[in-house]
Amino acid sequence: MSEWQQLARRNSGDAYARQYADRFARLEREGHDIHGEARFVRDLRRAPARVLDAGCGTGRIAARLAADGYDVLGVDADPAMIDVAREDHPDLPWQVADLAALDLGETFDVVLLAGNVVPFLHRALDQAVARLAAHVAPGGLLAWGFGTDAAHLPPGCPVVDLAALNLAVAAAGLHTVARHASWDGEPYEAGCGYVVAVMTAAGGSDRVSFTG
Ligand SMILES: C[S@@+](CC[C@H](N)C(=O)[O-])C[C@H]1O[C@@H](n2cnc3c(N)ncnc32)[C@H](O)[C@@H]1O
Repeated sequence: MSEWQQLARRNSGDAYARQYADRFARLEREGHDIHGEARFVRDLRRAPARVLDAGCGTGRIAARLAADGYDVLGVDADPAMIDVAREDHPDLPWQVADLAALDLGETFDVVLLAGNVVPFLHRALDQAVARLAAHVAPGGLLAWGFGTDAAHLPPGCPVVDLAALNLAVAAAGLHTVARHASWDGEPYEAGCGYVVAVMTAAGGSDRVSFTG
């Protein structure tokens, strides 16, 4: 069982995947904004564009992006999360895959890791970051966001070693072109507890165009 699965089971029980999706659906019904990540992608690249939702969970973000006219693929290592994505969004493509061994045979305009996927990559960090970089199209972007300390992460979630992550980013030939403190684009300050970073793959920086 993966670290994510152990944590999710401990925090939410065996039906954690259904609970995860239902919680966001309830928040949306109650009027909460659950689409910050999708808006962030819209500001990076206008539709139509090909987006990989890496660590898509139950498909919340990919489904929103598809509704906005993006061509999406959602991948996640947890079959239970993908089962719920398939149940709730049967018209969209979902795939069970480990990001550390990702080999989809295609590249994407935007590769997105939202909602604390990065903290779970620490056991194969270099491989995962390299595989993610390999899926960024020329001129494309990789964006991820996660809590950087225990206070901004769910109970028991691993805390990212930012120095190790920076090394993995450099080794994969990625260049950070923007850093924020939230998906709403607030300015990042060290120690603020959350980071959203946008990166280009090697050689792509001269072709970057932000639409937002
Ligand atoms: C907190 S959930 C976020 C789900 C979704 N991105 C969202 O924001 O709603 C973290 C997800 O990362 C996935 N994950 C963790 N490690 C992974 C890996 N190595 N490869 C693929 N998915 C992974 C888990 O299975 C889980 O679905």
